[in-house]
Amino acid sequence: MRPASFSLFLFFLLFIHGTKAKNLIHETCRTCAQSDPNINYTFCASSLQAAPASRRASVRGLGSISITLIEHNVTDTRHFIKHLMGMKLDSYVKECLSDCFDLYTDAIDSVQKAREQYNSKQYDEANVVISTVLDATSTCEGGFTEKKGLVSPLTERNNDTFQLSAIALSIMHMVQTG
Ligand SMILES: *[C@@H]1O[C@H](CO)[C@@H](O)[C@H](O)[C@H]1NC(C)=O
Ligand SMILES: *[C@@H]1O[C@H](CO)[C@@H](O)[C@H](O)[C@H]1NC(C)=O
Ligand SMILES: *[C@@H]1O[C@H](CO)[C@@H](O)[C@H](O)[C@H]1NC(C)=O
Repeated sequence: MRPASFSLFLFFLLFIHGTKAKNLIHETCRTCAQSDPNINYTFCASSLQAAPASRRASVRGLGSISITLIEHNVTDTRHFIKHLMGMKLDSYVKECLSDCFDLYTDAIDSVQKAREQYNSKQYDEANVVISTVLDATSTCEGGFTEKKGLVSPLTERNNDTFQLSAIALSIMHMVQTG
């Protein structure tokens, strides 16, 4: 093969590969959104696409990436809550934040445990653990909504972690059922 046609060949190979990988993200997120009405397809696709190495990932790899995204989210949110706790706030809000801080502290441990379980293909166990993270976001948010007139400063973050956890659960189910 002449060099020019070889690089053209390479280009097509890379192009086809890139398109296929992108399709896998879309396909996976479409399945997630179909199986769980809580999952927003656009959020799923943009989150996975933004992650490094996601274009070359298999479905199992995307599951691992989704766990990493949860880990980043919960770690960042725990820092953010700590920052809020240092501010002058209503005592009820402080109480809520303190509960959320504990929930997110546990969530960091849970995600790390889930990563190990996922890596060793203990999907049922990882499922249980990720479900506790998903529940933690609702519990945290619920504290604020209990008192009338309060606006949760964590709505968006709770929702992001909720979405990512639902995505991880859905992908794990796909991996498990093949
Ligand atoms: C899905 O999320 C995107 C942003 O992530 C938002 O623009 C869109 O309105 C959401 N769609 C639904 C149905 O909630
Ligand atoms: C949480 O994850 C989502 C998706 O990866 C990202 O868009 C968002 O910025 C993250 N939030 C935090 C606080 O890290
Ligand atoms: C949660 O985030 C998703 C994706 O960005 C969005 O579609 C949905 O409306 C949000 N829900 C709430 C309650 O904010």
